[in-house]
Amino acid sequence: MFHSIRPAMLDRMHTLEEIDARDRGDGTPRLQRLRQIPPDTGKFLAILAASAPAGAWVEIGTSAGYSTLWLSLAAEQMGHSVTTFEVLPEKIALAQETFRLAGVEAVVKLVEGDARQHLTHFDRIAFCFLDAEKEVYADCYDIVIPRLVSGGLLIADNAINHREVLQPMLDRALSDDRVDALIVPIGNGELVCRKR
Ligand SMILES: C[S@@+](CC[C@H](N)C(=O)[O-])C[C@H]1O[C@@H](n2cnc3c(N)ncnc32)[C@H](O)[C@@H]1O
Repeated sequence: MFHSIRPAMLDRMHTLEEIDARDRGDGTPRLQRLRQIPPDTGKFLAILAASAPAGAWVEIGTSAGYSTLWLSLAAEQMGHSVTTFEVLPEKIALAQETFRLAGVEAVVKLVEGDARQHLTHFDRIAFCFLDAEKEVYADCYDIVIPRLVSGGLLIADNAINHREVLQPMLDRALSDDRVDALIVPIGNGELVCRKR
């Protein structure tokens, strides 16, 4: 997966990494920062998605599509596809540009709107990456966990850098007997839940 990334995809990844670094680095307040995962987290997600059982792959919170690009590498490798949800029109436009430039439109379906309205239509989720506003994490957890197939994975970002605000949801996941769960100290901290 990581040894043969197409030049067009690498170019778009690097462009988004530069924009994200600028967003974080120069102190200029920006309303619509990309807030994307670091590259190692992308690799971690791709390896987990490629190891998931049969079922749908979903992502909650696309932004400009950086994390989706990593998932699309796994999707291409496994002959799969990923459905990603985004609410903001500006982000949707950026993500569409990302998927077109990187040439992954065949394996990525971008759905516009609040993921909570759409996830209820899925009944066999094998892999879910949750990376949205912190206020919706608990709702998304409650919608996704019952819909995960056995062995299916829910990964939630920001489990360390936003631990305080996410603490009730994290505590719930770590003591939820429907899943085996832990927090992995990679990037911003990933909550990993595997359905029993
Ligand atoms: C942290 S960013 C996602 C970054 C992206 N996963 C990446 O690493 O490249 C969170 C995104 O979630 C979107 N979002 C927030 N709440 C949402 C919801 N309920 N449904 C879909 N998207 C949502 C926001 O508009 C924002 O673009």
